[in-house]
Amino acid sequence: MKCTLMHKRIAVAEMELDDASGFIQKIGTVYAPEHLPVGIPIRKGLADKAALNEWWLDRSIPASRSGIREALETLEITSTKMLLSRCYGLSLSDQYWICPEGLSLTWDSINFFDNDFSEDVGDVLFGADRKGDGFNFSSPDNTSDGNLKKRWKVINGKNYLVKGGSKPFCQQPFNEVIAVGIMERLEIPHVSYELIWMKNEPYSVCRDFVTGNAELIPAWRILKIQKKNNSTSVYQHFLHCCKALGIKDVVPFLDRMIVLDYIIANEDRHLNNFGVLRKAETLEWLGFAPIYDSGSCLGYDKMPAQIRLEKGVVCKPFKNHHMEQLKLVSDFSWIDFDRLADIGGFIESTLSADGAKEYMDEDRIRAIIGAVKGRIRQLSQLAMRHAPVQTFSTRDDVKENIAEDYNS
Ligand SMILES: Nc1ncnc2c1ncn2[C@@H]1O[C@H](COP(=O)(O)OP(=O)(O)O)[C@@H](O)[C@H]1O
Ligand SMILES: [Mg+2]
Repeated sequence: MKCTLMHKRIAVAEMELDDASGFIQKIGTVYAPEHLPVGIPIRKGLADKAALNEWWLDRSIPASRSGIREALETLEITSTKMLLSRCYGLSLSDQYWICPEGLSLTWDSINFFDNDFSEDVGDVLFGADRKGDGFNFSSPDNTSDGNLKKRWKVINGKNYLVKGGSKPFCQQPFNEVIAVGIMERLEIPHVSYELIWMKNEPYSVCRDFVTGNAELIPAWRILKIQKKNNSTSVYQHFLHCCKALGIKDVVPFLDRMIVLDYIIANEDRHLNNFGVLRKAETLEWLGFAPIYDSGSCLGYDKMPAQIRLEKGVVCKPFKNHHMEQLKLVSDFSWIDFDRLADIGGFIESTLSADGAKEYMDEDRIRAIIGAVKGRIRQLSQLAMRHAPVQTFSTRDDVKENIAEDYNS
């Protein structure tokens, strides 16, 4: 299929997609090189095909998404890549899309921020059978990232992301709410999550924080603009890339994210789980996106004894261990520890919600509260010590950007 890669209303490049595989076969004229996705190299007017393919295929639902095999069987397709062109690559997180040759589509008439989308794909992703007639593939669910079961839903005219948890404890939706409680107390800009129940299963719900006027560029794309040499730490490399792009206030944002992730023992803050907002038309950087996707934390997949001992806690995106990552923090003075005094009660009431007993027993709740309080204590001691900041060391650096796979 011949098409034009579009950035909102701007034609970026001519492309040819292979209908059978969904891959980009050919890139033709590049009209607006500056509007190519961040981190796509361009030499002598030619865009890097392998890099653009990686970006394009990254827009599809990951093959490791919970329940995706059953959904593909129901949809009678072999790969989630085949869903991309069915919604013109449109998403609710950025403003890229493709316009097939011969169709006079406009951004204003098809984007999902301002126009309705079909619930059909979302229904199948949530386990429904395929509707007989008139199945409509036009959905931002075709381009949603992440391994947890999720769908976009319009509620009272606004777009919300509904997301489940992983077995057996389904703890992520509760954890999102707890992370919000901590960020509210510490005044860290965040996406607000609420807990809802569907068929006796917990889900988190959050508003789309992206609008038709701004888009999310994940940190993963930002890191691609320059090659990292072995002697530069991942953290330092990220700072260099942000500086080269003109993104401001990076260190205060990272300080807050690292501190939050330490308190909640977050195990999945990979480079697609934070990012920067940008205005599509002008390419102006608007600052870091509010913190989202903090659910894979608080020992979500562990037993109470392991939670108490803090055993096997993974850390991302900069260091493999939270204690090492904490050494990257430049300033702790903004943390008002008094505001966290009631955190035990808040966690207890969140984890004791009606319906939660099936997933959460008293021992588990105690272990989680004890571990959080212990980490806050450690943090307050560290904050008083003013230890030197270690942003240059490559020791314990994370080597690969890998999201947690809940199926394995
Ligand atoms: N509230 C939101 N508004 C816009 N985009 C979002 C929002 N929440 C998540 N996203 C996008 O959807 C992706 C998947 O959501 P995420 O919460 O990270 O799911 P998972 O826990 O499965 O990784 C994110 O990486 C981000 O690109
Ligand atoms: Mg995620």
